[in-house]
Amino acid sequence: MAELPKEYYGSSAFCLQPGDYLREEANLMQTVDEILEVKGRDVWAVGPGATAYEALEIMADKNVGALMVVEEGRPVGIFSERDYARKVILKGKSSKNTTVGELMTREMVCVNRRSTVSECMALMTARKTRHLPVVEGGRLRGIVSIGDIVGEIISNQDFTIKEMEKYILTGH
Ligand SMILES: NC(=O)c1ccc[n+]([C@@H]2O[C@H](COP(=O)([O-])OP(=O)(O)OC[C@H]3O[C@@H](n4cnc5c(N)ncnc54)[C@H](O)[C@@H]3O)[C@@H](O)[C@H]2O)c1
Repeated sequence: MAELPKEYYGSSAFCLQPGDYLREEANLMQTVDEILEVKGRDVWAVGPGATAYEALEIMADKNVGALMVVEEGRPVGIFSERDYARKVILKGKSSKNTTVGELMTREMVCVNRRSTVSECMALMTARKTRHLPVVEGGRLRGIVSIGDIVGEIISNQDFTIKEMEKYILTGH
């Protein structure tokens, strides 16, 4: 590591170890299961026959930006605020006469409980999606959103900063 001029650190000089850099990386290895453990595993869903209006009412009531679409107990798609904005409003359709089945995104980008925060971030960016259903053994196990992932990263950074402050102040 390049040495800083003395005026930057005065008498309380410290040297970062390679392990300190790894710590931040390691936090991104946190798993989807750890996020679900805190945020809960319930998934709000709707049938494909529901109207867009009914789906929006549920989304507002539950304060979520997407609903899984489930038919005969199986996830068949996902309906998000983005689907509504682009496929109803911009197309001049009526939300009371258009069903979720017509609007939902059929191709779902899924993760499993062992997927890491880092993997979720990469998937959301590459596939331009804000919600990742968590699937295992063919069954829905939860859902994580971009806010969950960003929140996890921020709280990890906060933890890293506090650890470094502690290290600077106490030396361990
Ligand atoms: N305080 C928190 O922990 C927290 C977590 C996530 C998002 N947010 C905030 O909420 C706003 C929107 O968040 P977003 O863009 O991530 O999307 P969002 O509104 O869809 O997600 C909000 C929360 O609802 C959950 N959720 C979404 N769809 C769900 C469903 N069908 N069933 C069960 N849970 C579902 C998400 O996992 C997330 O925890 C942002 O302002 C964000 O900062 C806060």
